Amino acid sequence: MIEFSLRTAHPSNTRTDVVAVAVHEGQKLSWAAQNIDAASQGALSAALKAASFSGRAGVVLPLFNLSGVTAARVFVYGAGNATALSAKDARASGRALAAAAVEQELLELTIYPLADSAQDALDALRQMVLGVSDATYRFEETKGTSAKSKPSLKRVRFGLPESVEAAAAAATLKTAVATIHGVEFTKYLGNLPPNHCTPARLGEEAKKLGKSHGLKVTVMDRKAIEKLGMGSFLSVTNGSDEPPRFIVFEYGGGKKGDSPTVFVGKGVTFDTGGISLKPAADMDHMKWDMSGAGTVFGVMKAVAELKPKQNIVGLVAACENMPSGKATKPGDVFKSMSGQTIEVLNTDAEGRLILCDALTYAERFKPRAVIDIATLTGACVVALGSHNAGLFSSNDALADAILASGKKVNDRFWRMPLEEDYQEALNSNFADMANVAGRDGGAITAACFLWRFAKKYDWAHLDIAGVAYKGSGKEKGATGRPVAALVDYVMSL
Ligand code: BES
Ligand code: MN
Ligand code: ZN
Repeated sequence: MIEFSLRTAHPSNTRTDVVAVAVHEGQKLSWAAQNIDAASQGALSAALKAASFSGRAGVVLPLFNLSGVTAARVFVYGAGNATALSAKDARASGRALAAAAVEQELLELTIYPLADSAQDALDALRQMVLGVSDATYRFEETKGTSAKSKPSLKRVRFGLPESVEAAAAAATLKTAVATIHGVEFTKYLGNLPPNHCTPARLGEEAKKLGKSHGLKVTVMDRKAIEKLGMGSFLSVTNGSDEPPRFIVFEYGGGKKGDSPTVFVGKGVTFDTGGISLKPAADMDHMKWDMSGAGTVFGVMKAVAELKPKQNIVGLVAACENMPSGKATKPGDVFKSMSGQTIEVLNTDAEGRLILCDALTYAERFKPRAVIDIATLTGACVVALGSHNAGLFSSNDALADAILASGKKVNDRFWRMPLEEDYQEALNSNFADMANVAGRDGGAITAACFLWRFAKKYDWAHLDIAGVAYKGSGKEKGATGRPVAALVDYVMSL
């Protein structure tokens, strides 16, 4: 775990392994770069010229042994042409600086975020913490005998201009650090192989988190889930030998009677599709089908560290979706906890079957808002790709608040339609509804299915199928999205 802190010393006399200062396109120096340049009698700007430094965001130029500068190394990082870094550029800079520090096996990095105003400095600082996390996160628990990466980068410090109030800086840093604790936990659970990350393991991780972070945690087994009448959820577990879990996190920072925000996560620890079996190619990606649940874990962890004065509940429905002689067959009808019956026409549309019962369970908290998070449909990936998650909501103010948080921390959503016109496609001759409609508008009809169970409160549904993980390449793995956006949403309430 990297230790983050703030410091006030000027860049030129900061004692650290490396000082990072920003330079714009056109080789225009930030205040911190000016400070180094003055102390070194123009050595910094001379080096920029010699290197034809472009100033593009994400570029890092290392300089060594500048006279008049305490730190032996200076990293000049590109700041683009804006006066303040965009959220995206600040994160890219944080990532590039941390990657360069790791490569040079440095233990300590001191970053001077680009700032024209105090608010810019705080926003940049927050994004840079996320960027440092991006670049330093590793999942090596199951690497076996291959060499693990060397330990490096123990401390990251941020130097802020005097115009920034110390209390505001400390609060921003705290939020950012709690956010990456959440993001990294979500990544960890997602990256665990599916034979490790079973529903039972999620139950154990929940209890562990409850103990370490002072959250009330209830983990229900099959018997308790049966007692609740969650026939839809349980229908998904029929083919699996792994017992399901229903997990309830309760954080009580508000007054006793205050209506909580409820987060609901899809926790399918492996989705084979069931009898409606998926093709073999890339089926390993379906270990990330618990990413909605992982997001709830991450948000609860961050919330427990930040202690906002409000009540927050996290619900996770966890199971496996497997084919077997006992598995659900297309055409089977089940009764949900709400009393509504469902004809399962496609056993691969299982996410909605587990979420609908969790949404009914959420009613008992008399929530101010319910937000579910799910890797729900391939159709959402087709519609939006991997930059924006789909956002569906029955309430404009709720939707706007989530959209705003996503923009602010560059963990974005795009609002999709939620309209009664789409409901007809879910009609069934044998039950109150079918679990699938046709191919058209697949992300929307999935949301419409859930909506039928979310009529008693303000509700938003986040389809994160395209954003929760990277499916190939060097960065194959969980992204921890959308923990950052949801933590910002909670802290902005
Ligand atoms: N877990 C999948 C959705 C998914 C697809 C997540 C790709 C991540 C990447 C979900 O359970 C599913 O299989 N959905 C079906 C629904 C269909 C049968 C209506 C899909 O998207 O094909
Ligand atoms: Mn599926
Ligand atoms: Zn699924």
